[in-house]
Amino acid sequence: MKNFLLTLSFLSGIAAQAAVGVSSPSGDISLTFDLEQGGAPVYSIDYKGKTIVAPSRMGLMADETAFTDGFTIAGVDTVTVDRTWQPVWGEYSDVRDHFRELAVKLKAENPSKEMTVRFRVFDDGVGFRYELPVQDGPNYLTLRDELTEYNLTADNKAYYIPGDYDTDEYLWSETAISEIPEALAKYHKHTEAQRAEGKNIQTPMLMKTPDSVYVNIHEAALAGYPAMLLDVDAENHKLKTHLVPDRLGVSAYLQMPFNTPWRTFIISDDARDILASQLIMNLNEPSKIEDTSWIKPMKFVGVWWEMFTGNVKTWAYSDDPLAKPGVTDYSKLPSNGRHPANTENVKRYIDFAAAHGIDGVLVEGWNEGWEDWASYRKNRQFLFDKPYPDFDLPQLRDYAKEKGVKLIMHHETAANAADYDFQLDRAFKFMKDNNYDAVKTGYVGAIIPRSEHHTSQWMVDHVNRVAERAAEYQIMIDSHEAPRPTGMCRTYPNWLAQESARGGEFESMGGNPPSHTCILPFTRLKGGPMDYTPGLFETRMSYYGEGKDSQAGTTLARQLALYLTMPSPIQMACDLPENYDRFPDAFKFIEDVPVDWADSRYLEAEPNRYITVARRDKNSEDWYVGAITDHNGRTATIDFSFLPEGNYEATIYEDAPDAHWKENPQAYRIRTVTVTPHTVLSQPLAPGGGTAIRIVRK
Ligand code: NOJ
Ligand code: CA
Repeated sequence: MKNFLLTLSFLSGIAAQAAVGVSSPSGDISLTFDLEQGGAPVYSIDYKGKTIVAPSRMGLMADETAFTDGFTIAGVDTVTVDRTWQPVWGEYSDVRDHFRELAVKLKAENPSKEMTVRFRVFDDGVGFRYELPVQDGPNYLTLRDELTEYNLTADNKAYYIPGDYDTDEYLWSETAISEIPEALAKYHKHTEAQRAEGKNIQTPMLMKTPDSVYVNIHEAALAGYPAMLLDVDAENHKLKTHLVPDRLGVSAYLQMPFNTPWRTFIISDDARDILASQLIMNLNEPSKIEDTSWIKPMKFVGVWWEMFTGNVKTWAYSDDPLAKPGVTDYSKLPSNGRHPANTENVKRYIDFAAAHGIDGVLVEGWNEGWEDWASYRKNRQFLFDKPYPDFDLPQLRDYAKEKGVKLIMHHETAANAADYDFQLDRAFKFMKDNNYDAVKTGYVGAIIPRSEHHTSQWMVDHVNRVAERAAEYQIMIDSHEAPRPTGMCRTYPNWLAQESARGGEFESMGGNPPSHTCILPFTRLKGGPMDYTPGLFETRMSYYGEGKDSQAGTTLARQLALYLTMPSPIQMACDLPENYDRFPDAFKFIEDVPVDWADSRYLEAEPNRYITVARRDKNSEDWYVGAITDHNGRTATIDFSFLPEGNYEATIYEDAPDAHWKENPQAYRIRTVTVTPHTVLSQPLAPGGGTAIRIVRK
């Protein structure tokens, strides 16, 4: 890692009582810190001379101490850092981490307390966190509230999902800040906790100011602390941090020294910069894993979609609701005959993967416990080392190995994270013994321990612990229903992806509107890759569990483009082998497309509307382009000036002229043209459609 420290502290130790500030290296963004009357800290952010966040309160409130006022400035440190690091996988092979830092040391007497606020101002935004050193006063906190406010200077347009302590699998709203309460009212909240959640929104959220400045608000390096929601004061265009509490009402139990996660703002007047920004990754700690050679980006298929679309297939082996893992002798139970995780069927997927160069096969429903898995009441729901009798693991392990395919493990916990902690070592050892090196985890249901929510402090610690422990076993993780990512995948690069949003599976539950994948990259994806499960070729299917039809919000060609617009080092090809066999020429793109990139260029972007991106393969000179649009058709302008000089063959997978996400989703064409760096292509995209291009030097 290159590491250049350019400027060092010059104000250290000097008590400054006037406002202090720091600008980004380009000078476009400036951050000001001040103490209001009573010694209450406030910050504000300007972008190109306009205030984006007006002076806003900061601080932490605990039962033991209020780190909110009474402060004087005891010292100010500034430093400029310009360094470049190499992610194990991602959108770029080199990431520049270039910022100016301002650390303001705050002190109060009677009662005595100390806190440092550390700001980092980058060319693409701002991050700050609270640092609590060992104190003369209390060193243990029962944290009730974080005061951090966001005083917006206009009734910005906002893109958001409703606040919820337990799920983020929502569709996105686009309204003015002042209209958020009305938009949230449509979500019915029954319990007290839900009503508290119902007044706020989740992060990452995006805003567009009246001057067309885009601002993404989120957090980075979430560890030892709960996730953040944002309370909305619609009238005053003000947001305030709302920490997810446990069910006892406490947000966090802290011991000093402690640093909070970073509060982050990605800011630009060019929407493409929001997509390109690596600010959140930059604010995370470098990899804790020294030897990362075993971490391998991959594509996979899975015994999975059958359960969503068939209406009859199930994760469970038997229909006996009283079957009990570890107690029942499953070999004595009759199979329900609707269990796709059986040896023959898994072999079919292994054969398909081997024939098409797909690295892995996920198998869901392989282990004991699924008969009553949605009841969420038991202290033991699943065993992670007990295959069902029709899943012949030794045979499949050897068969997969022979075919050069990796089986991918599935650990659905039914949200019993406590029992998963107990079983973790045994489960990971079982994986290694059977040649698995990646696992999809899941937390469907109400969290056990019952004092917790999906995004409360305990669960944040749990998922981080799972990533850390998995690294010890050289296991890669793809977590579902975990807290929204905050760039921790930099620190644990074995944590390849998370779901943590409404994924592709909802195409079988009424569908995702085409705009959905035009907003996720601006919001959810800023924290890390998503296991969105693209590659849906049969876009009409039977509705999950309801016996009617569901229509996906996509054309077939758009599904190919998602491999570019929803980058992830672990990408599923979600559809059934028999559906891929109907469209082998289109499936060729999924075979070819890489999942790890040397470089990325965002060519066109507008949140909720469209994205066009070009990426260069990390392992070759090949380039790929993906373009998607919302329910409106549009013509993408693809300027190939990102290419080095030369002639290239571009294979274009596009919507046919009469394609339409609803009326004619499977109408696509494949054509080959020659392009050079001087080519500018006007590429039509159908309503709800997209285009994927593979570019190879001639
Ligand atoms: C929800 C996950 O998102 C989905 O992918 C999985 O199949 C089910 N839980 C069962 O674990
Ligand atoms: Ca899910």
